[in-house]
Amino acid sequence: MGIMTRDQKGWCSTQLRKAMEKQNITPICFGYHPIIGRVNYTPEASVNKINLSKDIDAMITRPIGRGSLEEIIFRMNLLHRLERLGLLIINPPIAIERSVDKYCSLTILHENGLPVPRTAVTESHDEALECFHELGGDVVVKPLFGSRGIGATRINDPDIAARVFRTISFYHGVLYLQEFIPHGGSDIRAFVIGTRVIASMRRVSENWKTNVSLGAKPVHLNLPKELENLAVKAAKLIGCKIAGVDIIEGPNGPVIIELNSQPGWRGLQSVTKIKIADEIINYILSELKA
Ligand SMILES: Nc1ncnc2c1ncn2[C@@H]1O[C@H](COP(=O)(O)OP(=O)(O)O)[C@@H](O)[C@H]1O
Ligand SMILES: [Mg+2]
Repeated sequence: MGIMTRDQKGWCSTQLRKAMEKQNITPICFGYHPIIGRVNYTPEASVNKINLSKDIDAMITRPIGRGSLEEIIFRMNLLHRLERLGLLIINPPIAIERSVDKYCSLTILHENGLPVPRTAVTESHDEALECFHELGGDVVVKPLFGSRGIGATRINDPDIAARVFRTISFYHGVLYLQEFIPHGGSDIRAFVIGTRVIASMRRVSENWKTNVSLGAKPVHLNLPKELENLAVKAAKLIGCKIAGVDIIEGPNGPVIIELNSQPGWRGLQSVTKIKIADEIINYILSELKA
């Protein structure tokens, strides 16, 4: 089994490697740079002399990484090519594409009746200021492709909004504005594998951002059935076999704020007895048999 990742020594990749070894599976872990894609001669895709469409039975994609537009599009098209060659890729490239773009995933969830916050997206700082008022003058501005809470900013002052929006558009960022949902300093992360939430946690924070990577405390949670159904449905709509679904319990009920196709689980593992890496490997083995 392959693991394609930007961080081969990372905690999650190490967990996956150990989980594979327990089951006598040889892990093949690699970064993006040495991969070769070939057209009209073989092997069609290889890395360090390993033929990616023949020498491995399945491949796990960990964070697709930072990179130039060319690098990221090449990585994605290589994944599509491998999928067409018959390799089982988890998560599938289409799911990565849909979830990495917060606008894309939110529209799909909303179109299918799942609750999401009111959100506006534009390239224009003037229009963004209009939207700031439409959304009640208290918004969270996020990078369209961001993660780990990095760069997400809460703005409830029109002067600051104008200044920030101008700066973001000056650097050709897309302005992604979302109504602020009061959550009292905690939200829910549900970890979906296949058609189940295998573990979940409440993330408790001293401020409005509840990312564990920013210091929020993970607390074990028995997820109510209704929220489990919501998370599983969301993952299925985006095409994720594995997903980290972020849910805020707002004043008008639960809303999904985002869905991660490459979720880490170090924080979650610290509050659950379920061995998450084992669950992932067992799931992939069951998919290979199916
Ligand atoms: N609309 C919102 N209202 C209130 N808090 C939010 C909102 N959106 C995000 N947050 C907080 O910011 C954190 C990061 O936002 P999120 O959309 O999950 O992006 P990231 O990909 O950076 O994790 C969330 O975990 C949540 O605590
Ligand atoms: Mg998040």
